[in-house]
Amino acid sequence: MKIITDIEEMKEFSRNLKKSSKKISFVPTMGKLHLGHIKLIESAKKYGETAVSIFVNPLQFGQGEDFNDYPRDFENDEKILSDLAVPVLFYPKSDIVSGTETFLINPEYSEKLEGLFRPSHFKGVLTIVMKLFGIIEPDFAFFGLKDYQQYVLVKKMAEDFFLNVKIIPVETVREKCGLAMSSRNTYFDEDGKKAACAFYKVLSAAAGLFNAGESSAEKLNGFVIKELIRNGFKVDYAEITDADLKNRKQTALNGDILLAAVRFKGVRLLDNIFLLKK
Ligand code: PAF
Repeated sequence: MKIITDIEEMKEFSRNLKKSSKKISFVPTMGKLHLGHIKLIESAKKYGETAVSIFVNPLQFGQGEDFNDYPRDFENDEKILSDLAVPVLFYPKSDIVSGTETFLINPEYSEKLEGLFRPSHFKGVLTIVMKLFGIIEPDFAFFGLKDYQQYVLVKKMAEDFFLNVKIIPVETVREKCGLAMSSRNTYFDEDGKKAACAFYKVLSAAAGLFNAGESSAEKLNGFVIKELIRNGFKVDYAEITDADLKNRKQTALNGDILLAAVRFKGVRLLDNIFLLKK
């Protein structure tokens, strides 16, 4: 696997792939790779020559957030990527963000759900993703559905700027107990991680109530909030919207999505579930 840290060298590597008519699949990450990333990479490999980036992006962390503590394990990440036979890892230095004067925002989507709790987060995400797209010029880029709002925002950005990249969503990978894989899960000790499993269990129970005929968002969200609090979670939000995240729902319909964010033992977790009639 080739490891590239220099922006111009990465651009040239991509240009050469394109010259030989290869499609480029891209998986942006912040490292500390887990099975969720591996699924993104395996999906990407089906579409083209796969480039993975590792960069803990300071622009997407707010004041008082965990930028300094964010788990980093380059050695192990490198091993995982080599074992997966990824052709190129882009591991930029901080010069990819220093001196940035132009930022991307989507005011409508950035001011709801995660945006309300992390006001500058999506500005940082969209800006870094656009930078990475500018360097790598991928044909396909892969985003996990755990960060559903991020996926919707990146997709909208690619459409709004007529980018030649197709944004591909990839299913959330879960622990056996249902907990969504996340680099931040490493903050938990074993007991904490076990207890955190209740998060997805509560969301699944709400989806079960929907399937059984309950469609009042107030009742479904109320159930989620009450059950999460009972299990020791602090709830930032639990909301039902349409799949485009355009409209908050009062009456849930088939295909809507229930999204939630909680804090548990000092760790912030996100998850979501589609409401589907089975
Ligand atoms: O989802 C992530 O890991 C990050 O938000 C991303 C897309 C790599 C941008 O820094």
